Amino acid sequence: MQGLDLILMGSLANAQFIKTQKGGQAMAVDHVATRTPLPLADRAAGLVGSIIDSSTSLLAAQTHDIVRFAMGSPADEAVPLAEFRDIAEQVINHSSMTYGATEGEPVLLKALVEYLANTSNPTSEDRLTITSGGMQGLDLACKIFINPGDLVIVESPTYTNGSATALSYGAELLEAPIDENGLIVEALPYLVAATGRTPKVIYTIPNFQNPSGTTLSLERRHQLLELAHEWNAVIIDDDPYGLLRFQGDDLPSLQALSPGDPLLFSVRTFSKILAPGLRVGWVDTDPGLRQLVINAKQAMDTCTNVPAQQIVAEFILRGGLENHLASLRTEYKRRKDAMQKSLRRHLGDRITTTDPEGGFFLWLTLQGEDARISTRKLFETALAEGVAFIPGPALSASGQFDDALRLCFASTTPERAEEGIIRLRRAIDLELAAVTSGEDA
Ligand SMILES: Cc1ncc(COP(=O)(O)O)c(C=O)c1O
Repeated sequence: MQGLDLILMGSLANAQFIKTQKGGQAMAVDHVATRTPLPLADRAAGLVGSIIDSSTSLLAAQTHDIVRFAMGSPADEAVPLAEFRDIAEQVINHSSMTYGATEGEPVLLKALVEYLANTSNPTSEDRLTITSGGMQGLDLACKIFINPGDLVIVESPTYTNGSATALSYGAELLEAPIDENGLIVEALPYLVAATGRTPKVIYTIPNFQNPSGTTLSLERRHQLLELAHEWNAVIIDDDPYGLLRFQGDDLPSLQALSPGDPLLFSVRTFSKILAPGLRVGWVDTDPGLRQLVINAKQAMDTCTNVPAQQIVAEFILRGGLENHLASLRTEYKRRKDAMQKSLRRHLGDRITTTDPEGGFFLWLTLQGEDARISTRKLFETALAEGVAFIPGPALSASGQFDDALRLCFASTTPERAEEGIIRLRRAIDLELAAVTSGEDA
């Protein structure tokens, strides 16, 4: 089985295909000596792709049974499919089949403002733009704020699709460590001073971070806002999981701590709370920035998928979202607890994990002898054993954390998770034996 190798080879092939030439211009390497190289843009060198996303195709191609802890997808049974079908029957008409307003369907914008009024992110229509998922929100933010060579702070580990988006606009990344209270904000002034530059953007996932599951503490939220103002740096506040807190107390959002702050660019999505296939999300920005956001989106996709927006709007208008979220929170807590129990039962003190208070993910770090295992290699063995996860290096802008991995607890039932963890233990045993025998040889 060489699944991850294939994915990594894909990225490598891209890197080899693109070579920065003397003048700084990216050119395709000519595989056939007589052919003229393609005149790629310089930015093509920053198009590094996503191992996380590539694992979807890799897993789809497998024919044996696999317990899937890899993708951050809601459980099938957590998607209100029957209601979506019923709603689609009612709302889809000719208006769904034509171009919509770039800023979003008026019915969705209105429903969203009403819904958010009772959350920690109350907002107004002049701040919202509906996007094609959270990824487009990240792309818009980077497109608007990042010049080639700009310094962008990212968490380490992080959601590498986000850091890859910054790279695609030529950012230089400054990785900042996290602990159980999220981004170590007090380390930022030192890290930044060492670069001798001022950051332009700070990319953070404050709640139930992807991949670690950790949450930025209240004190650090205040400090982060202060630093952003000191540096005049934009905070990309990427929060797909904030509405999925299942234990502990809610913390005020960055927006609530600094209402109307023009340096906050908030990226949200329905992918984790409804369904990722809908591709509907939103950004919440300073009203003065909205036209620029719309202009940038017009150069990307004109408008977000109209039928999907109509379905989401009607789901909210029927009053279904709060009940739906309540049942997700209960179920995801049950699943997180069950996964941790299985991990304790089968792996005990061979590992440590984070203890997320919401969201989808926990972060597992191998301990002792097992820490000598490479989780990239473990991925291949685990896939053959019938379990999939995301290896740590795929969640680090610089490929660190080879002794760690991300598990999604949200998409599998406790029974399947138990089976998956038994398979994971088998894979770890096999890999440890391979590492040891390799040393003996
Ligand atoms: C932190 C974070 N931001 C953004 C996204 C992208 O969301 P979407 O699928 O809506 O594009 C994800 C999805 O995994 C995520 O975890």
